Amino acid sequence: MSELRIAVVGAGLMGADHIIRIQKRIVGAKVTAVVEPDEGRAKAALENAPEANWYPNIEAAISAKAMDAVLIATPGQFHEPVLVPAIEAGLPILCEKPLTPDAISSRAIVDLEVAKGKQLIQVGFMRRFDQGYINLRELIASGKQGELLGLHCAHRNPAVPDTYHNDMLIFDSVVHEIDVVRFLTDSPIKSIEVKHMKRNKLSPEKLNEPILCLLETEDGVLATVEMNVSVQFGYQVKTEAVFQKGIAEIGRTAGMNTFFDGQIATEEHMSFKTRFAAAYDTQIQRWVDATKLGKIDGPSAWDGYLAAAAVEAGVEALRSGNKVQVSYTEKPSLYNA
Ligand SMILES: NC(=O)c1ccc[n+]([C@@H]2O[C@H](COP(=O)([O-])OP(=O)(O)OC[C@H]3O[C@@H](n4cnc5c(N)ncnc54)[C@H](O)[C@@H]3O)[C@@H](O)[C@H]2O)c1
Repeated sequence: MSELRIAVVGAGLMGADHIIRIQKRIVGAKVTAVVEPDEGRAKAALENAPEANWYPNIEAAISAKAMDAVLIATPGQFHEPVLVPAIEAGLPILCEKPLTPDAISSRAIVDLEVAKGKQLIQVGFMRRFDQGYINLRELIASGKQGELLGLHCAHRNPAVPDTYHNDMLIFDSVVHEIDVVRFLTDSPIKSIEVKHMKRNKLSPEKLNEPILCLLETEDGVLATVEMNVSVQFGYQVKTEAVFQKGIAEIGRTAGMNTFFDGQIATEEHMSFKTRFAAAYDTQIQRWVDATKLGKIDGPSAWDGYLAAAAVEAGVEALRSGNKVQVSYTEKPSLYNA
């Protein structure tokens, strides 16, 4: 196959960014279908993918045989209705996180994939492709600084769109830490507790945040996660790791420092699009390369399910104020390789 023909489903913030990425930076792939119910967004997206056709839904694109693979960038609660027909059609899929917002629907997707007998789905937990997280994972595994004892994570957005609601603090945002804490420690999340900081009066009325989550892994590592979506000043994702013999930090802004007018300043990111640009590029390139070989090369549907199970406990913890234990169903053998 010379060029992988990709249908991008959902041409909002993330989908539009992925279309530009595939067209401008990814080798061996092109966007041949934009699946988007909103005509204005579809037309804007097509300007960056002139060879692509517009389809109002995934079923129409499948009937037209418009693609070899699907990239899903609809909001998390609308992943399942796109995943099901794409899996049934046997198409390889990169699905933005979360796989789905809860454990039952994620397990149903896993079961559908198992019934097909092949791993078709890669989940867009792109932090696994970020060099900082890769380096930290290697350091933890090396044992050079002794055992990892705990992690302090912060995920801060300047603001969020109107469509963002309170549960999304967990299923859309903390889900990144839920996945990456397991990636870093190789240990599943055992329990989640959520505390509220003093409410930021600049947050939209429907949100009660910032929150502080406590994720405990089965190996006993405790991760604190500050989730803050109204921090105003910039977009910041950082992690500090506490070892027996020292501390490691990733995610500190590494730009130009200026020393002007009696002040030292460094530019901070304003969006995930720049903070994780290199990680998104690597994620999509490796997915394209693997897809051509009939494989995936990144987090699987099973990883998506494990995160969804922990998310479900996290949403309950957010609503109840209780510490909630995570329960997982049995792993199908398809994911043992
Ligand atoms: N990995 C990351 O860092 C990151 C960052 C932002 C968003 N995301 C993820 O990307 C996904 C999209 O988020 P967003 O912020 O771009 O959302 P968005 O609301 O900006 O855009 C979603 C688009 O999907 C379209 N849509 C809805 N249902 C559809 C359907 N059934 N078929 C086709 N199109 C449909 C909407 O019309 C909209 O244009 C979410 O899963 C989100 O969690 C990931």
